[in-house]
Amino acid sequence: MKSRWLQLRPRQQSLILAAVVVVLLLAAAQLSEAKLSRSYYASTCPNVEALVRGVVTQKLQETFNAAPGTLRLFFHDCFVRGCDASVLISGPGDEHSAGADTTLSPDALDLITRAKAAVEARCANTVSCADILAIATRDVVSQAGGPLYPVELGRLDGKVGTKAVVKHSLPGPGNNLDQLNKLFATNGLTQTDMIALSGGHTIGVTHCDKFVRRLYPFKGAKPQYSPPMNLAFLRQMRGTCPLNYSPTTVAMLDAATPLKFDNGYYQTLQQQKGLLSSDQVLFADRRSRSTVNYFAANQTAFFDAFVAAMAKLGRIGVKTGSDGEIRRVCTKVN
Ligand code: HEM
Ligand SMILES: *[C@@H]1O[C@H](CO)[C@@H](O)[C@H](O)[C@H]1NC(C)=O
Repeated sequence: MKSRWLQLRPRQQSLILAAVVVVLLLAAAQLSEAKLSRSYYASTCPNVEALVRGVVTQKLQETFNAAPGTLRLFFHDCFVRGCDASVLISGPGDEHSAGADTTLSPDALDLITRAKAAVEARCANTVSCADILAIATRDVVSQAGGPLYPVELGRLDGKVGTKAVVKHSLPGPGNNLDQLNKLFATNGLTQTDMIALSGGHTIGVTHCDKFVRRLYPFKGAKPQYSPPMNLAFLRQMRGTCPLNYSPTTVAMLDAATPLKFDNGYYQTLQQQKGLLSSDQVLFADRRSRSTVNYFAANQTAFFDAFVAAMAKLGRIGVKTGSDGEIRRVCTKVN
């Protein structure tokens, strides 16, 4: 062995050494990224996916709101401190007490509490709340008519959940394309991922305050950029959200098919009936319009892109080792 190595020319030796270094670097990169896998609980809790699915089916029979609510909960969990169920922690100064997280769905939180209880009853101290949220999200999407995809598992629950980083971690309804791209890029997501994930707005609702600025030219207020809105739709929305709107009034994010996870959201944008400026801008800006048109025309292409982007979303900031734990109750660190 040794003599063969010495028989090689220096050039061949350095090539082999370079190859070995590359392999080692790749292995190190794999290690530094937490390893998620589809079969993570195969031996420790083989029924976990069926247990969660049962709770999701039951909850959605009670209220459809849990579907959009859970999908949004997962997105907000992953963008704030990574997918570590930090969003579920409840107490003074928790994530819910800041910014966009103040309107997270109580039905979604209830769904996760119930799913965790069902899983704990069969596999105590085994499955993380972060993974239960990921499974439940997959199930609400498919049960609402969206794609059914394999979900990666193996996240630990975080030990910190405070409002400190919430505001700058989440996008806002007034964001333009550059702002959206920038925030998603810091999470390793491309513009196409961002457009596909925004398709989550094919289900669910928004409160009047998130888009009312687009309906009325406020006197004295700074003119704010707002992409064009269909005029008949604008008049209709003034009916839904009058100037003295109630803070509890909501409107559907996808006016066409609000209860179905489909590509109707993108068709809504083509008709300039997107409620949030951050949604309509995806069609208004020429740099993203072709992707909106593509997803509006081809639901399979949207579903494929959504599934790929959800996998990337689910890998953000995954906790391992002493950074995490299997929380006993999802609303409290152990
Ligand atoms: C691209 C940047 C995004 C912005 C600016 C944004 C903003 C918003 C806003 C303002 C609402 C309404 C909140 C309320 O009034 O209570 C909302 C709702 C929602 N968002 Fe997003 N969002 C974005 C991306 C996403 C992503 C990536 C997902 C999931 C993949 C998502 C899923 C949802 C869902 C399902 C709802 C409805 C929630 C419900 O009905 O309970 N959003 N979003
Ligand atoms: C729609 O998109 C899928 C997935 O990308 C692709 O295989 C299919 O050919 C597309 N269909 C049309 C009609 O373009």
